[in-house]
Amino acid sequence: MSVGSLDRGCAARREGWVWIRKGLFGQERVRLLLEKSRLSVVDGGQKEIWSVETARCRFFQGWENEIVVKDAHRTMLFKVEGDRHEFVAWWRAMEAAMCPKLRNYFHPEELIGEGQTALVKAAWSKANGGNVALKMMSRSSGIHADHVLKQFLNEVRVTRAAQSDHVVRIIDAFATETDYVLVLEKGTRTLLNLLEERVVFTEREARKVMGQLLGTTAELHKRGITHRDLKLDNILCREGEDDYMLLADFGSAAFSGADPAETKTDTFTAHVGTPAYLAPERWREKKYGPQVDAFALGVIMYALLSRTFPFPITGCWENGSFVEPDFTSDVWSSVSASAKSLIRGLLREDPRKRLSSIAALQHSWFSEEDSRTLDGDLTCRARSLPPKDQNHSPTRTFKTVALAQLAISTFDLSAHSF
Ligand SMILES: Nc1ncnc2c1ncn2[C@@H]1O[C@H](COP(=O)(O)OP(=O)(O)O)[C@@H](O)[C@H]1O
Ligand SMILES: [Mg+2]
Repeated sequence: MSVGSLDRGCAARREGWVWIRKGLFGQERVRLLLEKSRLSVVDGGQKEIWSVETARCRFFQGWENEIVVKDAHRTMLFKVEGDRHEFVAWWRAMEAAMCPKLRNYFHPEELIGEGQTALVKAAWSKANGGNVALKMMSRSSGIHADHVLKQFLNEVRVTRAAQSDHVVRIIDAFATETDYVLVLEKGTRTLLNLLEERVVFTEREARKVMGQLLGTTAELHKRGITHRDLKLDNILCREGEDDYMLLADFGSAAFSGADPAETKTDTFTAHVGTPAYLAPERWREKKYGPQVDAFALGVIMYALLSRTFPFPITGCWENGSFVEPDFTSDVWSSVSASAKSLIRGLLREDPRKRLSSIAALQHSWFSEEDSRTLDGDLTCRARSLPPKDQNHSPTRTFKTVALAQLAISTFDLSAHSF
């Protein structure tokens, strides 16, 4: 199965004259075009008059040189003009477009990542040698096979709708006998890996990262998409560019209807996300809107500047009330007041008062003139962090929280008092 007209490497492309039935006895000579996973009929002026996605069709052999294409609504029958060789060539091209085999297009290599639902392997394209990542979801991993397929199709749909500069590029999608596979642009490391390597970000570096994340989130919200699981390990660095961020893992994302001002607070009820990044309304009211993304970005910004998390593993909701983020530890003493003010704005308890991603981009932290305030802090803050290997250090807290990858779907909400 292929999904939509994706950018398959060695695409089946074929063009030629065929006859289609018209009415009971008539027939018409038209040009048939098969490109990637799209089959269309074009008139003499190359204008498309009919098309289908091959992923949504079945096809059969009809009389003589006839091929029957059937989707949910209609049946098209076309007779190949020319001899048997021409028919066989069309048949092979249709087979390639409708039942593409992953291994004909991509060569899988080593494992590069593991998430809650998927294994991710490096691979290269047999068409152009380019590096890609294969996100593989086992078809037998869910309780119901249908559920895995639904999740996979949702992820393909949302990732495609989300495509923009700072979103991981989706190249193709396949179903093999064992897995559903998304073919993605290959990133290098995650933002979590980068933070572990760098210890802490300067405000200048953090500003660059946060600008990209907030800008992309604002664009997603404008398009009616809420990510719902923004976290350090769902953000990748583009190959060769450590400061170019890519939002990834749209497995929990959903369409909410366009809400650029991010004011809706009751769009969703689904239990998705990761506890350490979950907004308080998720715990309190269970209904929520796109503003949960802004809250998660507040958690990410807090982590970038301090290498600690604002909330414990179990999240921001404890004994029935909101845990206010704390800025009193030494590591915060050299962080600018405007950075803290932006984090506070993003981590506001009430989603209606929380800064939206678009409003956060207008915050004065992004136009701070005095670069000394932003850069001179690094050594000072790095010094105020306890050594990496000490127990109970913020680093340890960071690791513990960062590595707790419990998805909310497996996290027992009923254990919490609301
Ligand atoms: N396109 C990619 N390039 C490189 N590594 C990736 C890519 N996509 C995912 N990964 C790695 O695999 C991990 C799991 O992928 P993710 O999409 O988050 O799966 P899940 O939905 O199971 O959480 C990521 O945290 C990252 O380390
Ligand atoms: Mg993930």
